[in-house]
Amino acid sequence: MNNLKGKHIILGISGGIAAYKSVTLLRLLVKAGAEVQVVITPNGKEFITPVTLSSLSGNPVISDFFTANTGEWHSHVSLGIWADAMIVAPATASTLAKMANGVADNMLVTTYLSSRCPVFVAPAMDLDMMAHPTTTRNLATLRADGVRIIEPAAGELASHLVGRGRMEEPENIAAVLNDFFGEGRPLAGRKVLVTAGPTYERIDPVRFIGNFSTGKMGYAIAAEAAKQGAEVVLVSGPTALADPEGVTTIRIESARQMLDEVLAHFADSDIAVMCAAVADYAPANYVDRKIKREHDDVDSIALVKNPDIAASVGKEKKPGQILVGFALETDNAEAHAREKLARKNLDMIVVNSLADAGAGFGTDTNKVTVISRDKTEDFALKDKREVAKDIIDCIIRYL
Ligand code: CTP
Repeated sequence: MNNLKGKHIILGISGGIAAYKSVTLLRLLVKAGAEVQVVITPNGKEFITPVTLSSLSGNPVISDFFTANTGEWHSHVSLGIWADAMIVAPATASTLAKMANGVADNMLVTTYLSSRCPVFVAPAMDLDMMAHPTTTRNLATLRADGVRIIEPAAGELASHLVGRGRMEEPENIAAVLNDFFGEGRPLAGRKVLVTAGPTYERIDPVRFIGNFSTGKMGYAIAAEAAKQGAEVVLVSGPTALADPEGVTTIRIESARQMLDEVLAHFADSDIAVMCAAVADYAPANYVDRKIKREHDDVDSIALVKNPDIAASVGKEKKPGQILVGFALETDNAEAHAREKLARKNLDMIVVNSLADAGAGFGTDTNKVTVISRDKTEDFALKDKREVAKDIIDCIIRYL
């Protein structure tokens, strides 16, 4: 449902029994990150209370043209411009008729007439009203006007008669809206897992083994994948960066913790991009008190090898899943990268060389070469957000 994040949606509710389902629809839209403004007809309020709707949406519910005691005017015009989509659910026979004929005698229809966004209706009524030539004619008019009809299902109706007229289930209405906002976004419906940042391997409570990774490249990739419509999980080592918009960010510290989170999410992912600079070694023995210079007199730390996360994922990879790795090299970059591509069972590897000025750790820019089994593409030095776009584009072409 991540295409709904940040979208402005008008939820129009008219007076039908199915109005109780609008509460679930409202909850789903809000949960998916949409900002929802409810507009309800006077009859709608007979079925569901504005208090419930305003608590769930976090916005006052609009029903009247004016607030009676203050005279405050509710602007259907600015509401119509604000919205990215309008959904009328339930849309009764009467509301559909008013919409089809421009009868602007309530806030819902007035808002519809002022809206510049795509409008969806989910009809709900008794089977005979649904089958009536008037309703058929009104729906045809609305369809011709560009309104998208979410067809009602057949089933038992409020009248206990069985037939067509049951409002589509809220989950399906939310999915229609989500798909609508995902159109034209090539990663819509795909799940992407990204690792980013360094890992810290504790020596004692105040010291660790780590590296200079800032996480910028991985965060930019996660943000770009989300922008292209993917559902993104970012497993991040310690960084100073804010969670990217529209991404589920999981913070971990050590390579072991990163491995656990990655394995927990990989089976469910279509694409995994291993961008983290995982510490290759961890101290063999964690000391649970601060090591003292005089007293402990340490001159070496015994190390153990950390798990190779990308290689572990490579072993789990099923046909259809795409695994992308990174390689930060100082010499013989392409040869080392090709060897890692094969050894870790990757589909693609992004190489950056510390030999290139402006590339690698800590910088805002990077210069990469993207290598797959049968292709090598060189890119110029760019802002890391632009590099992320190039990498995501390579993955989309690979799909
Ligand atoms: N990687 C990983 N887990 C590790 C080490 C690396 O998942 N323990 C991943 C990185 O995220 C990257 C790729 O493997 O996608 C290559 O990382 P790199 O550090 O270049 O490779 P290493 O296998 O550690 O090889 P070396 O350090 O010898 O160059």
